[in-house]
Amino acid sequence: MTSAALGTAWEISNGIVRGEIQDNRPERLKTIGQTDWSTRSCELYHRFLFAWAEQIQPSLVVETGTDRGYSGINLALGCASAKVISIDNRSLCSDQLAELDLPNVETITSDSLKMAERFQDHSVDLLFLDSHHTYEHLSKEIELYVPKVRRGGVVLVDDITMDEGMVKAWDSIVYPKRTFDGMHGTCGFGAFQV
Ligand SMILES: C[S@@+](CC[C@H](N)C(=O)[O-])C[C@H]1O[C@@H](n2cnc3c(N)ncnc32)[C@H](O)[C@@H]1O
Repeated sequence: MTSAALGTAWEISNGIVRGEIQDNRPERLKTIGQTDWSTRSCELYHRFLFAWAEQIQPSLVVETGTDRGYSGINLALGCASAKVISIDNRSLCSDQLAELDLPNVETITSDSLKMAERFQDHSVDLLFLDSHHTYEHLSKEIELYVPKVRRGGVVLVDDITMDEGMVKAWDSIVYPKRTFDGMHGTCGFGAFQV
């Protein structure tokens, strides 16, 4: 991936937010979660996850924070040849994603901080950090997981403006970074390049 990757990601995000990029995802993704008010507002960043996976064609995707599996399914269908590993400390969440029955997804029930050592250095093509939203946890995830990302890889982070702690963690990131406005309401969404 070239150093322009962050700019490309930002352009795709902007295109989605402005309505310039059409939603070409499978019908299944357009309807999933539509009856759930709390995920309707997340639709744009889920669309971005699909588009970014489709764009970079990763081999290995790691997500911390599975929840209902909506980000996982967008990543998995965005690039069907990728292996998507999603980690959540609640077994209910792992079960929910597993129930979506995607052949390229592996769910793990664990504290994300305990799982980083499972991955080889520079082996992860796409990392999405979206688990416990505190300064301490996000900072520790960055410390443990970023060495696992291959050089030039773009790391996506959700909820970066959610509260003071998340803002502090985001501000501490020393890599080139950009915020993607309008992707997740007022909670914020950002990316940095390793
Ligand atoms: C914001 S939700 C994830 C949303 C999901 N990525 C999406 O966009 O559809 C956060 C998830 O992180 C999980 N979580 C919280 N603390 C965690 C930890 N220490 N390790 C792993 N997962 C954690 C929660 O159980 C919750 O399901």
